Amino acid sequence: MSNSLPLDGVRIIDFTHVQAGPACTQLLAWFGADVIKVERPGSGDVTRSQLRDIPGVDALYFTMLNSNKRSLSLNTKTPEGKEVLEKLIKESDVLVENFGPGALDRMGFSWERIQELNPKLIHASVKGFSDGHHYEDLKVYENVAQCAGGAASTTGFWDGPPTVSGAALGDSNTGMHLAIGILTALIGREKTGKGQKVACSMQDAVLNLCRVKMRDQLRLDRVGHLEEYPQYPHGEFSDVVPRGGNAGGGGQPGWVLKCKGWETDPNAYIYFTIQGHAWEPICRALDKPEWIDDPEYMTAEARQDKIFDIFATIEDWLKDKTKFEAVDILRKFDIPCAPVLSMKELAADKSLRESGSIVEVEHKERGTYLTIGSPIKFSDMKPVITGSPLLGEHTDEVLTGLGYNREQIAAMHEAKAV
Ligand code: COA
Repeated sequence: MSNSLPLDGVRIIDFTHVQAGPACTQLLAWFGADVIKVERPGSGDVTRSQLRDIPGVDALYFTMLNSNKRSLSLNTKTPEGKEVLEKLIKESDVLVENFGPGALDRMGFSWERIQELNPKLIHASVKGFSDGHHYEDLKVYENVAQCAGGAASTTGFWDGPPTVSGAALGDSNTGMHLAIGILTALIGREKTGKGQKVACSMQDAVLNLCRVKMRDQLRLDRVGHLEEYPQYPHGEFSDVVPRGGNAGGGGQPGWVLKCKGWETDPNAYIYFTIQGHAWEPICRALDKPEWIDDPEYMTAEARQDKIFDIFATIEDWLKDKTKFEAVDILRKFDIPCAPVLSMKELAADKSLRESGSIVEVEHKERGTYLTIGSPIKFSDMKPVITGSPLLGEHTDEVLTGLGYNREQIAAMHEAKAV
């Protein structure tokens, strides 16, 4: 494993807050970028104080999205603060922001001005909707984006309301899309010598993940039904993609099935997939050899009208097995399945700890805290996750690096610019 990281030497001005932007810059920090989080003096990123579990200490909301960064407190609405930001822009590679629409322009840092200051700078931006969209003026949070991007209308049960996912499809997902854009622009800059503006809207990032639901809309428009949805063949279809509950989204029927203990444990379930070519092993696992060659069961088409009866049979088989015991049996038959895991189980999962997907890191005030590490693994490096910075922890260090002397830094503190 090498000690140097691919993004060593890349300096990023992290003008982000809440989740979408911080998730992006955190990822780039893990891979070696020097990420300087610019925060308003006194308060900082709002997530430092939101949903606190320890009074007076940075909330997990903040610590879990801002590891491996440095914090510069800076009031960019003061003349001194603007001067510092200008210097930073001149000496950095990327500026990432996810302010509400127009906030950076109002601060005096339009894209034109940024290009004047440093034509090589990449300006990466998250907004709720893309530039020119008829909703471009809206401020947006996670669930708003899930509704606007098609996730909510296609999630949940057909007899219930549109439902949002627990996964941050609007926030962290947009941050991951933006990270891909930034890395692409960095490679592009090597060829052109020029920076560019990279924008990703939360609506677009959600829609991109809902691609298969748009596929279903187009199929529905043409054929009037969707054979893999629970509504087929017994129920009705309207002209819009329905909510399909826990149905498998592709060509493999699947469902969440109850296991032993479901009456008291909200997560005593497994996801079971009926893969077409695995029908024979499924019948063997369930001790139903008579189904293997039965024309009423042996093809996916024949099974479709009784798919819920088949799931009920599997649930009957599962009723004396825990979700872990069931998966241990089914894995031997090569059946795609998994236990429904709670956050508590994931936090304690040995494999996730060993792989670095869940790590414990040090924080100056909180002590050790658990956080989610890099989901991306490399053969030649293993990102080391470090704790999030305190507000303004690196202010003097960053200012010194920009060429300010002790008196100038003291004057900035005095003027409350930092
Ligand atoms: N010094 C001085 N002022 C600062 C500052 C600093 N270091 N950092 C931010 N500010 C100012 C901004 O200039 C802006 O001022 P203005 O409105 O007077 O021009 C203000 O603080 C913050 O604006 P905004 O980003 O609109 O904050 P908000 O709390 O009203 O809205 C969001 C929060 C998330 C809804 C909004 O930022 C947004 O829609 N962002 C884009 C989409 C997004 O990322 N959403 C959610 C992500 S999890």
